[in-house]
Amino acid sequence: MIEVGGDGRTWVLSGPTSSYALHLGAGDELLHLHWGARIALADAEALAAEPGPPARGFESPLDGREEYPVEGGPRFVRPALSVRTPEVRGTEWQFGAASVAAGELRLRFEDTAHRLGITLVYRMRGDVLERSAVLEHLGHGPDVEVLRADSAVWTLPERERWRLSQLHGRWAAESRLVRSDLTYGEKIIGSRRGHTSHQHLPWVALDAEGASEEHGEVYGCALAWSGSWRIAVQQLPDGRVQIAGGSGHDDSGQALLRPGESLTTPVFAGLWSAGGFGGASRAWHAYQLEHVIPDAQDVRPVLYNSWEATGFDISEAQQRALARRAADIGVELFVVDDAWFGRRTSDRAGLGDWTPNPDRFPGGLKPLADEVHGLGMQFGIWVEPEMVNADSDLYRAHPDWVQHFPGRTRTEFRHQLVLNLARTDVQDYLWEQLHTLLSSAPIDYVKWDFNRSFTDAGWPGEECPQRLWNDHVHALYALLDRLRAEHPGVAFESCSGGGGRIDLGILARTDQVWTSDNTDPLDRLAIQHGFSQLHPARVMAAWVTDSPNTQLNDRVSSLRFRFVSAMAGVLGVGGDLTRWSEAELAEAREWVDLYKEIRPVVQHGELYRLRAPDGGLSAVQYVHGGEVVVLAWLQAQRYGEPVARLRLRGLDPAGTYEQVGVGDRVGRSDRAGAGEVHRGAVLLHHGLHTGLRGDLDAAIFRFSRK
Ligand code: DGJ
Repeated sequence: MIEVGGDGRTWVLSGPTSSYALHLGAGDELLHLHWGARIALADAEALAAEPGPPARGFESPLDGREEYPVEGGPRFVRPALSVRTPEVRGTEWQFGAASVAAGELRLRFEDTAHRLGITLVYRMRGDVLERSAVLEHLGHGPDVEVLRADSAVWTLPERERWRLSQLHGRWAAESRLVRSDLTYGEKIIGSRRGHTSHQHLPWVALDAEGASEEHGEVYGCALAWSGSWRIAVQQLPDGRVQIAGGSGHDDSGQALLRPGESLTTPVFAGLWSAGGFGGASRAWHAYQLEHVIPDAQDVRPVLYNSWEATGFDISEAQQRALARRAADIGVELFVVDDAWFGRRTSDRAGLGDWTPNPDRFPGGLKPLADEVHGLGMQFGIWVEPEMVNADSDLYRAHPDWVQHFPGRTRTEFRHQLVLNLARTDVQDYLWEQLHTLLSSAPIDYVKWDFNRSFTDAGWPGEECPQRLWNDHVHALYALLDRLRAEHPGVAFESCSGGGGRIDLGILARTDQVWTSDNTDPLDRLAIQHGFSQLHPARVMAAWVTDSPNTQLNDRVSSLRFRFVSAMAGVLGVGGDLTRWSEAELAEAREWVDLYKEIRPVVQHGELYRLRAPDGGLSAVQYVHGGEVVVLAWLQAQRYGEPVARLRLRGLDPAGTYEQVGVGDRVGRSDRAGAGEVHRGAVLLHHGLHTGLRGDLDAAIFRFSRK
């Protein structure tokens, strides 16, 4: 809902529980009024009528109060917008017009010297406010160089102490949650790698006065962008906090706007919740399931992928054998990973040549795809379209198609170079290759990988080479959008050496993401805990792989622990099934069957993090209508102490809940409890006996409301 004040200069956007208000001051300065609990228009007007801060030497009355601080004039905060023409730098803007249409508020300004139109866009979806900016060169003037254009700046209310939550990491250790007190100055997170990065997810949350998992005010901001980016959290000298975010890692230039051209920033979404971190996560999940993720109402199938089992050493016969075993344990989607194409027998060759390797797949992919379909599964393949190996037909034909600076080393990370997707000839080539590939065999699923960051992002001959950074992402989005439109039955997974490209931008055009190359079920609990702060289980791919985990740490864990860990998201299996015993395969079949029963609740339910993984008992709970699923893990039982009862959440205290089946009937019978009826109030206030013991134990509990 959008309300407009009587003077046409105050606006209030409201969701079910929150409101956001802004006001155009007497001098046309656009001021922030409110972000938080729901308020009425009259409240916003009362705030607008309050006098501004008292004048103070060396401080600007605008700083910390503006919706979108531009560079220039009496402003000393980090500018959201920095532009220049050959002789004039900065922005002096005048208000033009406001419009409210189809749930969107647009506020239009103009800088007459630059002939630049600047429109700020606001749209409320649930309690998530989407913000972006549009720059337009209005014509008949010099080109405008856009040094930086943030999507939005968020202003927090005055509070005593702010705490910052972020998701940091590295390869095999993505999305780990850290919290720290905010102090004066700026805290910058971002990526200067050309992709979202393993190092930081483009999300921050801020809470004051000690929010907890289920209580207290939490503000969150998340950027819908899959390239380089920056979020700056600033605590100003008067204690006010502003959060600026947008594409690009610095202010050194993103685009050159010629007369008539325009630029739209990605969305920087913001959410206020009074329900603590858990409430904020559930609101983010609901937003993505309803407004971001394509076909989110469909459940994702159980997949098999042999990457950890086979690496680059694949053959059609071997894949057929694995497919038969996968079908036998109930897998629904069989994915051929790397090494099916070109001369790709190691990571040194083949990227760029997207036709099946004739020695490995003499008849192309279709015979294998047909067999997989005959086994009752969907068929998927791996691609890494944005990359090329120097040892490839593509690179031999077009060495100028990669990002590079003339006369400089072409850095080869993982023996590969990055294609310059900003070039239209590269875009055309990729479209043609991928469209042909998807038309050549009945392919249902594409795992789209991206295995190295930008290093030599040059574009010889281009007038504004730095536009390559943003244009790469726009070209990637356009390619995915076009492939989806042309091949509507194909689902896509975003992968970047694990979780190097997970954000709201890529999630608008992919069906799930590869969370991490780390498939150790214990490490995964922490990675998944962080991931769930922002993204729903419906997109979080997780595989059961072999034990010991020879890839990472040689940790030994039971199938039970591995399955229950991976069942917290979109279940996959990634072990070498040819080496699993009959007993292991039979147990795996039971887990897969169980997952299929609980997956509507896991993938579409409301998620409650009951206990964080910190060495002892941890658990997540999903509630979908009257169905409840609890996944619990015990890392280590210490000092012979009994494991604590697990208090559930999100139940009706007056309701009764019947235990379904025998919880996780797989493997053990000591947790029998089918048909037992539990009282909601008891589960909420006293909790569930889990029966977990020892080290690396796990269990699943299911309840149905009576
Ligand atoms: C990195 C991915 O994260 C892995 O799952 C696998 O697909 C390899 N790339 C293949 O090169």
